Amino acid sequence: MEELKTVIKEQGKVLPGNILKVNSFLNHQIDPKLMYRIGQTFAEYFKNLGITKVLTVEASGIAPAVMTGLAMEVPVVFARKSKSLVVKNDVYSAEVYSYTKKFPNHIYIEKQFLTSDDKVLIIDDFLANGEATKGLIKIADAANADIAGIGIVIEKTFQPGGQYLRDQGYNVLSLAQIASLENNQVKFAN
Ligand code: G4P
Ligand code: NA
Ligand code: NA
Repeated sequence: MEELKTVIKEQGKVLPGNILKVNSFLNHQIDPKLMYRIGQTFAEYFKNLGITKVLTVEASGIAPAVMTGLAMEVPVVFARKSKSLVVKNDVYSAEVYSYTKKFPNHIYIEKQFLTSDDKVLIIDDFLANGEATKGLIKIADAANADIAGIGIVIEKTFQPGGQYLRDQGYNVLSLAQIASLENNQVKFAN
């Protein structure tokens, strides 16, 4: 998505540890018009697959997920995060290790919001190691829901998450693929 790449080039800041800071439009302040076009792009790519629900994780996945749900006219469910294990029998949960924050989170979704009748589209802001996405897949699998696709706003292709998911056979669309953040420079793939 050219518009997204332009905004990343103009507003993104490279932080130590191969982190791209995109606080001005995605992770703190949100650009709703850009987010709306992101949602439309996901909706167009994943149309005609019978998707019944969009799944994401709080907090930063919610904006692109809601815009996608709006464009597809389906509900959006976000997994909630918890510092401790959620032991309730009315939730599906998974452990997600955050490499950037160096600690594990538990994520969970109430069973009433995800069933075996659902065909889900997973949406997230970043794909790096893929831990968050793997957690959502585990939850969807536990609910016996089908996973129709995975939509990512920014993928860092120098980290292994995207390759892993494609090797597993998932249909992954990333709107911007970053091949390198070396020397404080954003280098896009292809
Ligand atoms: P993973 O889900 O792909 O494994 O990502 P990882 O553990 O490496 O990262 C943990 C958190 O950091 C995730 O957000 C992920 O979206 C985000 N992240 C990863 N790489 C970058 C990056 O280069 N720039 C930015 N801005 N974020 C990155 P989270 O913990 O779920 O936080 P949030 O949703 O509350 O923002
Ligand atoms: Na994030
Ligand atoms: Na995220």
